[in-house]
Amino acid sequence: MKRFQDKIALITGAASGIGRATALRLAQEGATLLCADRDQDGCAATVAEIGDAASTQMLDVTDPASCDEAVAQTVQRYGRIDLLANVAGIGGFGHAADIDDAQWQRMIGVNLTGVFQMVRAALPHLAKVRGNIVNIASAAGLIGTPYAVAYAASKSGVVGLTKSIAVEYATRGVRVNAICPGAVNTPLIAGGFDDIGDVEPRLFERLTPLLGDMAEPEDVAAAVAFLGSDDARFVTGAILSVDGGQTAA
Ligand SMILES: NC(=O)c1ccc[n+]([C@@H]2O[C@H](COP(=O)([O-])OP(=O)(O)OC[C@H]3O[C@@H](n4cnc5c(N)ncnc54)[C@H](O)[C@@H]3O)[C@@H](O)[C@H]2O)c1
Repeated sequence: MKRFQDKIALITGAASGIGRATALRLAQEGATLLCADRDQDGCAATVAEIGDAASTQMLDVTDPASCDEAVAQTVQRYGRIDLLANVAGIGGFGHAADIDDAQWQRMIGVNLTGVFQMVRAALPHLAKVRGNIVNIASAAGLIGTPYAVAYAASKSGVVGLTKSIAVEYATRGVRVNAICPGAVNTPLIAGGFDDIGDVEPRLFERLTPLLGDMAEPEDVAAAVAFLGSDDARFVTGAILSVDGGQTAA
């Protein structure tokens, strides 16, 4: 049986990487999807791969009105929202003392405030159908991650937000979970460490998954599909690592 038959999902960051893989996976499992991203060409390419069961929506998660509109469009086009997958995000690495105000604000604005604004807009609709939220945080939100102070802070924030809302909404039947991937083979990570100057090589041992290789976006999409489905009906407030053992070591 298809786990997302007759289910409506709103996916942010659907133009690329993990968001794209999540859209394809959920569509395979029967979902109808609103694919939202600031990259409209990428989003259109994802939707073209899926066909009639998906449509695109322009979204800038830093703009609260844009978040409200993405949620409103989902309800207008499809009648409800069963799953909000907050995947949109940015990366960025540098020495902590070199991060300027604009870089800090941008990281927190997209990765943390963006998730909050989507969650705030979607919660009243999710509460009507006992829907759920899956947020993509990061291993960097769980363990000290060198040269990633703003990114790590934003992702720790997503972990805290996830647990808080999970508790607040548990009695209303809305589940809220997060996934913490380690390194995943997407454009976000490609070349991410190239221009940060001198680094201490021993610190990078922390970033190495025990399984050796990076994850593929499909590995994270499979975890979204589990948490977002009724198979996880008793799972809320969980922070699921998909990191090849990186944070267990
Ligand atoms: N790739 C990794 O190693 C890794 C590891 C841990 C967590 N993550 C997280 O996974 C999520 C997806 O990242 P990815 O690796 O697939 O990267 P990606 O760059 O392939 O995809 C990110 C998507 O988010 C969109 N986006 C960025 N800013 C946006 C905004 N303001 N409004 C709307 N859309 C916006 C981009 O256009 C892009 O399509 C991010 O939250 C990222 O932090 C990635």
